[in-house]
Amino acid sequence: MTAAIKTLWKQALNTFEERTSSGFKLCQKKFDKLRNLMNKITAEDVNLNKQILDFIQVQHAPMWVIDIFQNQDFAISIFILKHGFTMPIHDHPGMYGFLKVISGVVQVNNYTLKANEDHTIRLNKEEMAYRHKPITLHSNSPACTLTPKEKNLHEITCIEGPAAFLDILSPPYDVDIDSGKGPRPCRFFKTVSSSKACTDTSDIIEEVKLVVIEGQPDFYSGSLKYTGPPLM
Ligand SMILES: [Fe+2]
Repeated sequence: MTAAIKTLWKQALNTFEERTSSGFKLCQKKFDKLRNLMNKITAEDVNLNKQILDFIQVQHAPMWVIDIFQNQDFAISIFILKHGFTMPIHDHPGMYGFLKVISGVVQVNNYTLKANEDHTIRLNKEEMAYRHKPITLHSNSPACTLTPKEKNLHEITCIEGPAAFLDILSPPYDVDIDSGKGPRPCRFFKTVSSSKACTDTSDIIEEVKLVVIEGQPDFYSGSLKYTGPPLM
């Protein structure tokens, strides 16, 4: 029987292939199928076991990353956050993403930028955004998604950990945002003010002013080797 992670990888290849060809439009049907497969992925499917979680619990780095696969179109990784730590608000310029919790519990704050053009890192630049209702995710929760425009920013806090989530990002950060402009930058933000949102969308709870900050030096990550079923 084909390993679940291999089936997921094949569907991701199918969903995001030809991303770089002109006129590429993401197929909703393929995207939905990928999300359904993602919803079924468990910690066992990627061999995220107790030894790994116990090891991470006693390490200093607040976050650990296990890279599973990357090509020009997408990346699959596992992120593991130690208990009580928060991955600061950050963006995913021009990217689609899936996040599926496979161990522990996280709380996610999603943000949608009101304007969405310039992704270059300019410290102290202000951006207005909508903050969506926070969501709590555990291993039985479905995957949540982000798109280039919707909920493209998030902040993830581990409330029961270590918490691990499988992540698919398309395209990866390493792939140029526009040819010749270099890899897409990941900007970090902090909230400087908030007010009641003037919108009818019940999922949006407030409007916030975010400001671009430098990455936090105490929030760094270690990396571990993937030990789950091979994809190829
Ligand atoms: Fe992220």
